Amino acid sequence: MPYQVIGVWLDLPNITFALQFKLKIVFFTYKRKECFYLVGVIATFQGATVMGKGSGYGKVILFGEHFVVHGGPGIVSAIDSTTDAEVKKALKGINVKDERKTAKGYSEEKRLQQIESIERMLKAMGIDPKTGLDIWVGGTLPGFSGLGASAASSVAIARAIAQELSMQISDEKINQIAYEAEKAYAGNPSGIDNTAATYGGLMWFKKDMAGGPDKIEKLHLRRPIEMVIGSTGKVANTKVMVEGVAERKKKNPAKYDPIFKQAENVAYAGRKALENYDLKKIGELMNENHRLLQEIGVSSKELDMLVDLAQKQGAFGAKLTGGGGGGCMVALTPGKELQGKVLSAIKGLGFEVLSTKIGVEKY
Ligand code: PMV
Repeated sequence: MPYQVIGVWLDLPNITFALQFKLKIVFFTYKRKECFYLVGVIATFQGATVMGKGSGYGKVILFGEHFVVHGGPGIVSAIDSTTDAEVKKALKGINVKDERKTAKGYSEEKRLQQIESIERMLKAMGIDPKTGLDIWVGGTLPGFSGLGASAASSVAIARAIAQELSMQISDEKINQIAYEAEKAYAGNPSGIDNTAATYGGLMWFKKDMAGGPDKIEKLHLRRPIEMVIGSTGKVANTKVMVEGVAERKKKNPAKYDPIFKQAENVAYAGRKALENYDLKKIGELMNENHRLLQEIGVSSKELDMLVDLAQKQGAFGAKLTGGGGGGCMVALTPGKELQGKVLSAIKGLGFEVLSTKIGVEKY
């Protein structure tokens, strides 16, 4: 066989920012009397864009938002929507392209907090703050307040940065990094959102007020339960909501301390009802939790109206979810039929809705 083909593949990673070039060279040689003569060379050049990718789950809080910030127990469930991120090294600066579907004004309201959260993230990851990064954010989780969108994006971005910079980071560490990033959005977060965003699933959460590891326990349901999420369309500032509760609690402990105690009892009873799959009880406790949230001043007239509407349509229970003051409510609607009915009623009034399930093992 006088002709020989020798292929040479060269992978030259990162010769310039964020692009990896693949150079493929094929030599054609002719062999005569034990000598090889070069008769041709074909070189193909392929610019392959490589990037880091990551995702984080959205969530609904079934019991205990706001109370968890002060060390009370909470129950949170991931939902089947995620924020996804892609990160590429850039020549300079942090450039964010946020393509999430959002409530009107969400991106503008959160822009500065988003930049601060990324700076905090880089610090927590030990990355030079001058590192240039192109960051894309998207995914199925809409930017509605109350669904843990900020925590989901922090987890997604941290995972994508880690992959882009070839850093091996455990979920536990990702959770810690996202907690640091959450401080930009929530001031003094409990950590419940970033925990749900990192691990997914249904969880019991209790913050360790002394700074030690938080109590995180996975809960399991006999069967998943259908839920409806309704968005008021109003963007809320979690930090302002969290600070408001802390101030009012400090000023009026005689009113607030018993409410906090009741919220704790509701969360414990909620856990038992979930474990016993007592749907009626879970719903009643969600209603009770909403009433306590009204008392600490974090509901709004739109949230109350949607909660009321869901209850009248037959939801087993309904409450605001997350920081309140706008954002979203969640209704317990077991069975596809009831879920559809509540969903249509909320949608019929012109509000955005999501249907989801809690207790699904895969998310
Ligand atoms: O509104 P969201 O999705 O950011 O949820 C906030 C939940 C709070 O309990 C109010 C704050 C926290 O850090 O736990």
